[in-house]
Amino acid sequence: MLSRKNTLVILLMVVSYDLTSSMVTLEVDAKSNTHPISQYIYGMSFLNDINFAKEINLPVDRFGGNAVTRYNWKNDASNRASDWFFENLPEDNPNPENLPDGSISDLFIEKDKLMGARTMLTIPLIGWTPKDRERRCGFSVKKYGPQQQTDQLMPDCGNGKKTDGTTLITGNDPTDTSVKINSTFTKEWLQHLTKKYGTADQGGVLFYEMDNEYDLWHRTHHDIHPEPATTDEIVKLTEEYALAVKEVDPSALTLGPVGWGYLSFLRSVLVFSALDSASGTNKDRSSHDNLDFGPYYLKAMKQLESKHSKRLLDYLDFHMYPQPANVFSDNTETEVLAVRLRSTQGLWNPDYIDESWVRNLGEPNNRVQLIPRMKKAIQTYYPGTKIAITEYNWGGLKVMNGALAQADILGILGRESVDVAILWGPENSTEPWAYAFRMYRNYDGKGSQFGSTSVSAKSSDEQKLAIYASIRSSDKKLTVIAINKDPINEIDTKIEIKNFPSSGNTKIYTYSQYNLTKIVESIGIVVNNAIEHKFPPYSITLFEVARK
Ligand SMILES: *[C@@H]1O[C@H](CO)[C@@H](O)[C@H](O)[C@H]1NC(C)=O
Ligand SMILES: *[C@@H]1O[C@H](CO)[C@@H](O)[C@H](O)[C@H]1NC(C)=O
Ligand SMILES: *[C@@H]1O[C@H](CO)[C@@H](O)[C@H](O)[C@H]1NC(C)=O
Repeated sequence: MLSRKNTLVILLMVVSYDLTSSMVTLEVDAKSNTHPISQYIYGMSFLNDINFAKEINLPVDRFGGNAVTRYNWKNDASNRASDWFFENLPEDNPNPENLPDGSISDLFIEKDKLMGARTMLTIPLIGWTPKDRERRCGFSVKKYGPQQQTDQLMPDCGNGKKTDGTTLITGNDPTDTSVKINSTFTKEWLQHLTKKYGTADQGGVLFYEMDNEYDLWHRTHHDIHPEPATTDEIVKLTEEYALAVKEVDPSALTLGPVGWGYLSFLRSVLVFSALDSASGTNKDRSSHDNLDFGPYYLKAMKQLESKHSKRLLDYLDFHMYPQPANVFSDNTETEVLAVRLRSTQGLWNPDYIDESWVRNLGEPNNRVQLIPRMKKAIQTYYPGTKIAITEYNWGGLKVMNGALAQADILGILGRESVDVAILWGPENSTEPWAYAFRMYRNYDGKGSQFGSTSVSAKSSDEQKLAIYASIRSSDKKLTVIAINKDPINEIDTKIEIKNFPSSGNTKIYTYSQYNLTKIVESIGIVVNNAIEHKFPPYSITLFEVARK
């Protein structure tokens, strides 16, 4: 039961809460902090919905993930690694006698051409690939003994852990499933691809990633790479494979090192595994100029450019998943919803302290600030390198809360000058996350997009009402997106607009929880260089401001 004192405190909290929500001020300056927004920040992985891709003019589609580290383009089979009992599985292929034509990678590129999207392919660097199209196991129970779990359909295939559930099976034979490969295999793949689809500058595959999440190989792929990948190994493999890509297609772009997240930037191997193994992460750091892995990698790539007289690495690439519990999931508990929205700050805000387990394993002050961190390292160690985040997913994709986080992320990626970004695991395009993309890529159903030149947009409280602005090149209109993150309160305020000669007319497009399958159009007006507006709770609003 509440005491009177507590009741009073709660009342005061409510009053002050309402006051702050009405006091959010917004300002757009069309001549300040202007810079291009790369269209490749609106990318997705494995998008199969061709109509949706066309609807939002999908710029890039990625073929990547754990199984792709183990994809053999010649026999069209992949090993599913720890995702599925380390099994080699042939891809569904009605005419395997035609291989390598008709493989899933060929079909993926052909689908992307239909969609009008550029392709990002992952080049395996791990050195082993499925030996044929037979179903085979990395950890046969017959050969290596009973295991914690086995595949019900293939009971001889175990999960590589002894029955105690923790001890990994070691000393297994990688040739049970795989054959050794090197960059010759990659060169042949690019020869096949460029012959069939042209080079990158002729509309063929544009992006090649240097494998996937190398710093988890010793877990995800422990049947073939039981030891943690070392810094030297990754630099050497990147040199060999990126060189192969550039030799066959000098117009193609490469991305690396493709670490799993923020901690990848700091160290070459996953911190917790290194802590419980004897190898110790500090040893790796102290033998590499005392640099974090990200900066060291850039420095090494710059040296390789001198050595080979050409740039081998075009994009510095790390994945980014929010680490607070249940954010990357469909969870909708109140606290998870709030953390989901706050944690997008890990991408950019130098003052935001991470709210998850990584705060105890990263740097002492625990600020992730992934994009500024990448930018600073690039400026210092390898200027001219671009920034990529080729996997992210903030969860909640089926609900409005996840759409708000997604819209916030797309705004951040543009404002912070990220060059490529890819949503992992896009789901059904009738769901809220897809409307976040529509707000940027086709808010009126006629193909109108958020602009491609970012301009200054400031909110006095971006955790309540975030704002992003841009000028569109086609018609020079000002496009502004505002995201009301407050689940309950409407926010009644105005957007002050500086340095933009508006005609006065504004179209307003609103996506809100009132209808999760519709973007609603209305009309607004600019008076005295300001647009007054009531932002509905939990909503995304786009303003299209015409020029005089
Ligand atoms: C790569 O593998 C091929 C066999 O596929 C072999 O002929 C070649 O010598 C190998 N190259 C290197 C550099 O190891
Ligand atoms: C998406 O969901 C809708 C409605 O539940 C369904 O009709 C449609 O087939 C789904 N689309 C895809 C691509 O799964
Ligand atoms: C939401 O919008 C769709 C599409 O216009 C419409 O069919 C549906 O009836 C609307 N739902 C509500 C609850 O208004």
